[in-house]
Amino acid sequence: MITSAQLRQKYFDFFKSKGHALIPSASLIPENDPTVLFTTAGMHPLVPYLLGEAHPLGKRLCDVQKCIRTGDIDDVGDAWHLSFFEMLGNWSLGDYFKKEMVAFSYEFLTGKKYLGIPSERLSVTCFAGDADAPRDIEAAGAWEKAGVPKNRIHFLAKADNWWGPAGQTGPCGPDTEMFYHVKDIQEKSTQEFEKYNKEGTFCEIWNDVLMQYNKNEKGVYEEGKQKNIDTGMGVERTVAVLNGLDNVYETDTLKPIFEKVLDLAGKKSGKVSAEELRSARIITDHLRAAVMILGDNKGIVPSNVDQGYILRRFIRRAIRHARLIGINGNFCKEVAQVTVKVMGPVFEEVEKNKARVFSELEKEEEKFSVALENGTKVLEKKLSFLDKAPKKELNAKGAFDLFQSYGFPLEMTIEMCKEKGFSVDSKRFEELLKQHQELSRKGAEQKFKGGLLDNSVETTKLHTATHLLNEALRQIVRKDTYQKGCNITAERLRFDFNADEKLTEEQLKKVEAWVNDAIKSEAEVKMDIMGVEEAKKVGAQGVFDSKYGEKVKVYTISKGSKIFSKEICGGPHVKNTKELGKFKIQKQESVAAGIRRIKAVLE
Ligand code: SER
Repeated sequence: MITSAQLRQKYFDFFKSKGHALIPSASLIPENDPTVLFTTAGMHPLVPYLLGEAHPLGKRLCDVQKCIRTGDIDDVGDAWHLSFFEMLGNWSLGDYFKKEMVAFSYEFLTGKKYLGIPSERLSVTCFAGDADAPRDIEAAGAWEKAGVPKNRIHFLAKADNWWGPAGQTGPCGPDTEMFYHVKDIQEKSTQEFEKYNKEGTFCEIWNDVLMQYNKNEKGVYEEGKQKNIDTGMGVERTVAVLNGLDNVYETDTLKPIFEKVLDLAGKKSGKVSAEELRSARIITDHLRAAVMILGDNKGIVPSNVDQGYILRRFIRRAIRHARLIGINGNFCKEVAQVTVKVMGPVFEEVEKNKARVFSELEKEEEKFSVALENGTKVLEKKLSFLDKAPKKELNAKGAFDLFQSYGFPLEMTIEMCKEKGFSVDSKRFEELLKQHQELSRKGAEQKFKGGLLDNSVETTKLHTATHLLNEALRQIVRKDTYQKGCNITAERLRFDFNADEKLTEEQLKKVEAWVNDAIKSEAEVKMDIMGVEEAKKVGAQGVFDSKYGEKVKVYTISKGSKIFSKEICGGPHVKNTKELGKFKIQKQESVAAGIRRIKAVLE
């Protein structure tokens, strides 16, 4: 038996012994990245460093990262797919490359001190090569040298053995993946390997991305300036296969939650129908994801846009599936309590924020429970009218009514209709919604397709302007202003901060002028690496709750002895504020109780 805690520890011990610094998991909500709603991989928060920024802890890093992927949400309920999962990862930022990484992987997987997997239960895949990049014989050679025989090294095309860029452009490269043989079977050919993989007899547990290219705006893969390693190992899957389990719900970070759900439904493990099993798994997965989002320090709450909408969808879908397996009263808090107990020791913010987790879940459940019952009746009635219609489709207006009057997320209506053999005119629904609110759901969905942080000149400039804005608010509005959220695109910055009331016109003018004065003074932007304690001592602004990362980067904007801003930040920033142009506040808004937002541009 190997537990999740043991797996994490072994991973960290191994990579520390190879000179890696352990860094804390970043937030589930990406900083400064408007292209994705959630952190989807360990590499995501590290993009600036993969592009060449210096990391304060050096060139070798490892961590366990909280991840959410919603792309596979329809597969959740099967044995392996999860919305929230933990990813172990290690990185080389322009340091060691392919050969060393393959050797590390083999040692960690098979070494007696580490996972001790018998070599014959492993197969690996490498990139087969195409017009963009050559066949990766280097990686294959390294595997052979490490001890994997040729017949268990397979070459596959880009669809399987290539990672990134997550957006249109950025770092990417071939990858090499490692598969555990769940059964003691060996493949005789690549074709057979693919068959075993498809049916789950072989299970992918680790992916080493060999980031040697950069995809540019013209779609050309050019050699990257810096060659990086980015790897990802799914904790839940790996723990499952190492323990001979055939699904992730029996691993130690999911089993207590799953059993609580069955218990609430008055059912026994192993004695449920396939449908009931699927529902219980969906409830487990979705509420765990909801607890992790609510438990994140970013303070996301259920809403109708962006991350808040996804959170709402998780909670509401979990409630609906609960009804399907006979859980009728309020139950979310009970499941959440078990979840906090399991996840709190791994990600301490979840324990710290548990009061908010429980109260937000209860509020959302309260809001939705009655609506679900009434809305379900309305939907059933609508469908019974449509039963004889030539096309078994719920029109957009019907779905929109359910959304507006009963809070049914579109995806939930689609699922409910599908169960009864109906489709939904979701295209027209999007149009109605667009008319109804500023942000279309489609816009939000597109964000999921993912993208890397845009490190263009424009975003870098806006990033520096954000530091000045932050300080200007402290100077002009209140001394204890701090950042609650930040989002930067190539066009504008968006900054959320604590404030009890609306800023006056005069305050806004003063803030704007303060920032422009700093820009006009041609202040220098300097970066220093120091310990967290020292950063505190020198008065740097920023988040101090780092757990393992004892070194941070502090950016100082100053002219002579005048310091405009000092802030802990990963970067990147411009070198001198004269590059910024004119700062202009476009509007201020209220985001939630006690939080205001400023949108601004550089002209
Ligand atoms: N970025 C790669 C993945 O998500 C490796 O971490 O699989």
